[in-house]
Amino acid sequence: MRLRHLTLALIGLVFAIGLLGANAPIFAAPTTPQAAAPLPPGPKAPPAGAAMAQTCAGCHGTDGRLHAAAFMPLAGMPKAQFVQAMRDFRDGKRPSTLMGHVAQGFSNGEIDAMASYFAAVKPE
Ligand code: HEC
Repeated sequence: MRLRHLTLALIGLVFAIGLLGANAPIFAAPTTPQAAAPLPPGPKAPPAGAAMAQTCAGCHGTDGRLHAAAFMPLAGMPKAQFVQAMRDFRDGKRPSTLMGHVAQGFSNGEIDAMASYFAAVKPE
């Protein structure tokens, strides 16, 4: 009789540990890192902001950081300001020598992705 109770208790214990184990973080599937900005639905998701931002480095500095501010640094620019500037350049609402042409190549989703990237870079 006692042995039987012990066996049942053991089975119960093993079952409980199994349940706990299933929920323990060590057994959980690794969480995939979230993209910086929610991507708009569309046939072609825009590439990550960081990759696109490399095309700006020639004029605005690596990571948007610039020591000589002949071109405006982009690092740390507030997201809303960046988005507004890029859309205005693209739509011809803001006069520019170069940026009108540069901005032509980007969709709203791509501009948002770059805005998140640059806003997160700490200016020096
Ligand atoms: C060929 C040089 C060049 C490249 C490449 C370039 N820019 Fe510019 N950018 C400029 C110039 C010059 C200005 C000042 C406005 C003008 O005259 O076009 C400017 C201004 C800006 C501004 C406004 C800054 C402010 O303080 O208001 C933003 C935002 C900007 N660029 C974003 C970008 C992004 C994003 C990229 C990459 C996709 C990029 N630029 C690539 C030359 C460049």
